[in-house]
Amino acid sequence: MPSTPFLTAPAPSGASLSPASAAAAAAEHDEAGFGVYVHWPFCASKCPYCDFNSHVRHGGIDEARFLRAYLAEIGHWAGLAPGRRVTSVFFGGGTPSLMSPVTVGAILDAVARHWSVEADAEVTLEANPSSVEAGRFRGYRAAGVNRVSLGVQSLDDAELAALGRLHTRAEALAAIGIARATFARASFDMIYARPGQTLQAWRAELAEALALAPTHLSLYQLTIEAGTPFAALHATGKLSVPEGEAASVLYDLTQEMTGAAGLPAYEISNHASPGEESRHNLTYWRYGEYAGIGPGAHGRVVVGGSRLATAAERQPERWAGRVEAGGHGILESAALTPAEQADEALIMGLRLAEGLDVDRLCRISGLRPAAAAIGRLAEQGLLAWDGRSRLRATPGGRIVLNEIVLRLASALEPAGAGLS
Ligand SMILES: C[S@@+](CC[C@H](N)C(=O)[O-])C[C@H]1O[C@@H](n2cnc3c(N)ncnc32)[C@H](O)[C@@H]1O
Ligand code: SF4
Repeated sequence: MPSTPFLTAPAPSGASLSPASAAAAAAEHDEAGFGVYVHWPFCASKCPYCDFNSHVRHGGIDEARFLRAYLAEIGHWAGLAPGRRVTSVFFGGGTPSLMSPVTVGAILDAVARHWSVEADAEVTLEANPSSVEAGRFRGYRAAGVNRVSLGVQSLDDAELAALGRLHTRAEALAAIGIARATFARASFDMIYARPGQTLQAWRAELAEALALAPTHLSLYQLTIEAGTPFAALHATGKLSVPEGEAASVLYDLTQEMTGAAGLPAYEISNHASPGEESRHNLTYWRYGEYAGIGPGAHGRVVVGGSRLATAAERQPERWAGRVEAGGHGILESAALTPAEQADEALIMGLRLAEGLDVDRLCRISGLRPAAAAIGRLAEQGLLAWDGRSRLRATPGGRIVLNEIVLRLASALEPAGAGLS
């Protein structure tokens, strides 16, 4: 993807928008929201399967320095995207529950100083069970966090050890209890299709997870990520994971059990009772706008009629140094072409059970997939088209989503060409 220099002269925070861009920003907001993502790039230890931008600092972290940098970068983003109404804030990582509640509160205060924030904005913080204490959670709640997402991964001690996790089953259960007692909304993550995991074992573990009565669950199939210790073991045959038919049987069981428990998938790996979906993540999948604050964070924002894709310096201390020198840590900023925007909107939207809003795709990019291409995929049982604006991947289609996206992306045509 080509990169262009980042805009170096942002308008002052709160600057008024031209009528045209104000209307465009309002339309974006109404349809998909405006999220603020804040990346905390540190963890107590590095899990052997993880390729997130997360780092261990045995010598300690200068939290005050990072806070100053977050505040500066929020100011920069507010200049880039003035006048937006924030619908969600998401503290992701890394392990954001290693941040002090005071730091979290200061970041939220800065967001509220620079933008207006919706009264019921969703404010999520990711937490590791080993760093959960009731007092700290109450501190986050007082700071404005109203939803937590816990990285539980497994409810079995031996499995947790095999995943290199620092926490035990007992700590995971305690963390879920504290999260539910402290926050109106709590979710937790599990990883399945782990080395040697049988269908029976996953059935029992998922049943236990569902019995903990969450209203939102993220259930990820273990991905062997290049460059991780798990990838090295996998390459030498020392670690094998369910693949092909074995993985798809695990996936089907997951859909069946979560659906029966009232937590159907609203996205490939995310399950919720109705109304409990992560609004922040829906903004990504509905291809809305979001500011990406912090090391390695990505953003998408419409500036002067162009949708910019931004990516920040990943290395935490270099990122802080860049912010100190220039007010932001963004390394790349590319104005996406209409076709690139359509590709991204297809990739994101087809992950959702609600599907892709094709009319919105047209408004964003001026493009839509040709009727013939949709028809062929529908005949194969991979896509469902409601004849108006919603295009959904069927359960069978979700398994071959990349192929569907490729076929639709190669059949994009000007919106005026007509679909029905
Ligand atoms: C940034 S982490 C979440 C918070 C926290 N750092 C933790 O691990 O508890 C996001 C989630 O991605 C999932 N994840 C990370 N690496 C994965 C992998 N290789 N395969 C599948 N899921 C993965 C885990 O479920 C994890 O909770
Ligand atoms: S704690 Fe989370 S972010 Fe950190 S290394 Fe483990 S999975 Fe990755």
